[in-house]
Amino acid sequence: MRIFVCGGAGFIGSNFIRYILGKHKNVQILNYDALTYSGNLNNLKDIEKDKRHRFIKGNIADKETVDLVFQKFKPDYVINFAAETHVDRSIHIGAKEFIDTNITGVFNILEAVKARSGVKKYVQVSTDEVYGSLPLNSKNTFKEDTAFAPNVPYAATKAGGDMFCRAYYNTFKTPVIVTHCSNNYGPYQYPEKLIPFFILRMLENKKLPLYGDGKNVRDWIYVLDHCEALRLCLFKGKPGEVYNIGADNEMSNLEIASLILNHFNRDKSWMEFVTDRPGHDRRYAIDSRKIRKELGWKPKHQFKKVFTETIHWYLKNEDWINNVREKTGVFNPHIDLWEGHKMKK
Ligand code: NAD
Ligand code: TYD
Repeated sequence: MRIFVCGGAGFIGSNFIRYILGKHKNVQILNYDALTYSGNLNNLKDIEKDKRHRFIKGNIADKETVDLVFQKFKPDYVINFAAETHVDRSIHIGAKEFIDTNITGVFNILEAVKARSGVKKYVQVSTDEVYGSLPLNSKNTFKEDTAFAPNVPYAATKAGGDMFCRAYYNTFKTPVIVTHCSNNYGPYQYPEKLIPFFILRMLENKKLPLYGDGKNVRDWIYVLDHCEALRLCLFKGKPGEVYNIGADNEMSNLEIASLILNHFNRDKSWMEFVTDRPGHDRRYAIDSRKIRKELGWKPKHQFKKVFTETIHWYLKNEDWINNVREKTGVFNPHIDLWEGHKMKK
């Protein structure tokens, strides 16, 4: 079984590779990753001697190289994690790279899959953010047929890639599946995202910056539950289908901040309310009944347990943190690069 993994040096991709190697004996993985600021080979250090995994540095926006690697490796399965992933960067730094990777890159993979009839399936890993925002006080959730309504440049580019997948299945029968998952947490997440960012702030004795009133809600899922859902989509999912993945675990940013403060024995004075993110989606909520019913998936990890384990992982992995800190320095452009971040009283 030959799996071409794009973006396997990032947070979810590296967890997925480790997970697949643990689950399947007879597998060859080619990990194709451009090693951008969030890609890190230290995420795969513990499996670097495993001969079933090989790494190639490459960009999915580079069509010639994608085609060449496809011809040489001859994958049975393809899964794409490669993306520009941070909303704040897409706002405060710019969306050009988001367009190159999240749209052109996906187009290049689709073209390569289309040209090679041996590919059984291609899973495009996408996000619930393409569906836009829900009000706090509604019972609505995102279903597979909910209309796309992206509100920030990151989500717009992910929606663009997803639209190409839909079009390639309908036009050419390219065997592609698109998944929409909610916010992930767990080990190896680049500390620009809420949970690892707040943990690092605690370690640096800095306050936790909450955007706006802190009442925005995200639907949190443990990364290995997402990986199992993706494994099922890859091996059992039906080409042309869309699957929403979520663990029914909606929590406000205030609740997440309180849990982290409790863990570090700090009171609420360590929270700081800052100017809201422009285009800030209020609430995401996933209806995942389809993947549960059709592929027999359900989340196995209990939030309290794995949330605490996640905090411990960052506390234990100081070398990993120092390494990512050296790479960029700026984790949160909303706070560090944006003049407007301070609350206007
Ligand atoms: P990440 O930022 O940690 O990793 C992205 C990886 O892609 C990095 O290794 C990076 O080097 C690589 N990459 C970026 N541009 C590339 C390019 N042009 N060519 C090749 N490699 C490139 O992201 P993540 O959190 O692991 O997210 C993985 C995927 O899951 C993304 O597609 C994201 O949209 C999706 N997703 C993430 C979440 C979440 O909560 N993190 C939730 C739902 C969906
Ligand atoms: P984030 O991890 O950036 O993911 P996304 O925006 O893709 O959902 O942010 C999660 C939530 O946390 C979002 O509502 C923005 C908020 N947030 C803060 O309030 N403060 C922060 O420092 C960060 C990074 C995020």
